[in-house]
Amino acid sequence: MTTSENSVALRLMTTADLPMLHEWLNRPHVVEWWGGDDARPPLADVVEHYTPRIQAEEAVTPYIAMHGGEPIGYAQCYVVLGSGDGWWEDETDPGVRGIDQFLGNPRQLNKGLGTKLVRALAERLFSDPTVTKIKTDPAPDNHRAIRCYEKAGFVQQKLIETPDGQAVYMVLTRQRFEGGK
Ligand SMILES: CC(C)(COP(=O)(O)OP(=O)(O)OC[C@H]1O[C@@H](n2cnc3c(N)ncnc32)[C@H](O)[C@@H]1OP(=O)(O)O)[C@@H](O)C(=O)NCCC(=O)NCCS
Repeated sequence: MTTSENSVALRLMTTADLPMLHEWLNRPHVVEWWGGDDARPPLADVVEHYTPRIQAEEAVTPYIAMHGGEPIGYAQCYVVLGSGDGWWEDETDPGVRGIDQFLGNPRQLNKGLGTKLVRALAERLFSDPTVTKIKTDPAPDNHRAIRCYEKAGFVQQKLIETPDGQAVYMVLTRQRFEGGK
């Protein structure tokens, strides 16, 4: 983990983080863009939903983003191939990873922290040589997230239909990531 005051670092989420995650998931700026029908979950649902991820029983790996020694947000990555439930059925490449994230504190939005978070996650994922590209799928009207991902190097590819509705399919290839360093 890097110690620079201005950087964003990622650590694996633990069960001790679940009450904080629960609080974040109920904040309006997160509810607006995260959770769909499962938005504003009670603590019991958060524990049930995220504990298998913490225990590495699912293909989704959960992280807490840290900044200046404080937890500032949540991020997750997953193996796209075999996601199931109607997600990413066209994917054939086992090296593709998907990412999702949010900042917990509304006062910290639009200050560049999300871009740093996404870059830190990309750095971490591409340190695995088997990872070929990273994709993300913001809602078409989530302009702040789309801009953030573009600043982190992602490129908009196309509009897609997902089980959660329409999304912008955005990709960061290894080649682009390594060229942009
Ligand atoms: C998405 C999120 C992680 C981005 O992090 P962030 O720290 O706010 O983003 P950044 O400050 O790095 O970048 C945001 C960019 O969007 C721009 N922006 C903000 N609102 C915008 C809008 N309505 N239209 C266009 N651009 C907008 C900002 O100006 C900034 O770009 P700039 O630096 O070129 O000026 C954070 O906003 C968040 O947690 N949002 C709520 C949950 C969410 O949407 N999660 C993503 C689900 S896909």
